[in-house]
Amino acid sequence: MRAISVAILGDDVLDDDPTIHELEKKSAELTGKEAALFLPSGTMANLTAILAYCERGDEVILGDQAHTFLYEAGGISTLGGIHSHQVKNEDDGTIALDNIRNAIRTDNIHFPITRLICLENTHNRCFGFPLKLDYLNSVKTIADENGLKIHVDGARLFNAAVALGISVKELCRPVDSTTFCLSKGLSAPIGSLVCGDNNFIYKVKRLRKVLGGGMRQTGILAAAGIEALETMVDRLALDHQHAKILADGLSSLDGLYCNPKFVSTNIVYFILESENITGQEFVSIMAKNGIQFFELSPKKFRLVTHAGIEEKDVYKTIKIFQKVMRDKN
Ligand SMILES: Cc1ncc(COP(=O)(O)O)c(C=O)c1O
Repeated sequence: MRAISVAILGDDVLDDDPTIHELEKKSAELTGKEAALFLPSGTMANLTAILAYCERGDEVILGDQAHTFLYEAGGISTLGGIHSHQVKNEDDGTIALDNIRNAIRTDNIHFPITRLICLENTHNRCFGFPLKLDYLNSVKTIADENGLKIHVDGARLFNAAVALGISVKELCRPVDSTTFCLSKGLSAPIGSLVCGDNNFIYKVKRLRKVLGGGMRQTGILAAAGIEALETMVDRLALDHQHAKILADGLSSLDGLYCNPKFVSTNIVYFILESENITGQEFVSIMAKNGIQFFELSPKKFRLVTHAGIEEKDVYKTIKIFQKVMRDKN
């Protein structure tokens, strides 16, 4: 809050907001890329990045569980005429290397032209698993062999780096570009960054303008973002520990299925097995008890740990689950 109130502001559409410049410089350094650009959301960050790589009719290879495929309103096809080639995501968020190879089009007038491989790190729908450096290096080899670029939807990139115990810069080395969100685990109110080379970021900036994402005194948002990068990264490990405790607790309850082995960052998935209650009833009973989440698909739910949730809150949450499940079984 203080950082926002003392931020030095300018007009970012005219490229003279010093606080935005500072955030973008810091983001480029952290990810080891030449440049970075601030955007209002992760969705716009992914959209502009993919539009910057692809012409109309080009194809992007992405996971069938990717946020960009499932939850970004089909923006890449609506606005860019870009064809998505969805390939199965494995449980750990990877796409099998052979499946990537097989998805790359040969030069044939019947086929779209493959331009880009999109990965997600950590993978939201795949239990929040981080993609490991070895895997990213292998995808890079395939991309290089075929003249393709790699873009990472890194909405939770810092969670991935913390979970793997490596720097964000190292994690980004094999890929051409990445996004990351300042909101979510880093807890800033608004904003995402796209990071890549100068030429790419220039294109992203033009596209941001097209979409109306150029904003004026964005320094107030950047100030919170800088604060988040300086103070909220190291504590992500705590969120990961809390998620483990939560998963352990849920795994012992009758009527719920939760596998703690599938928890390595801040995301916990569980399934309601009990036949005595519908998913919606469960959501509303839990909400009345102060635990809010929604049903992702029938009887499947996701919980997320973040700043402001302490260990005692996690144990309290487990107790509430225990009581509700006892009443319903
Ligand atoms: C993996 C992933 N990518 C992108 C986004 C989009 O971010 P935003 O909600 O800021 O548009 C999200 C949001 O939940 C996400 O989980």
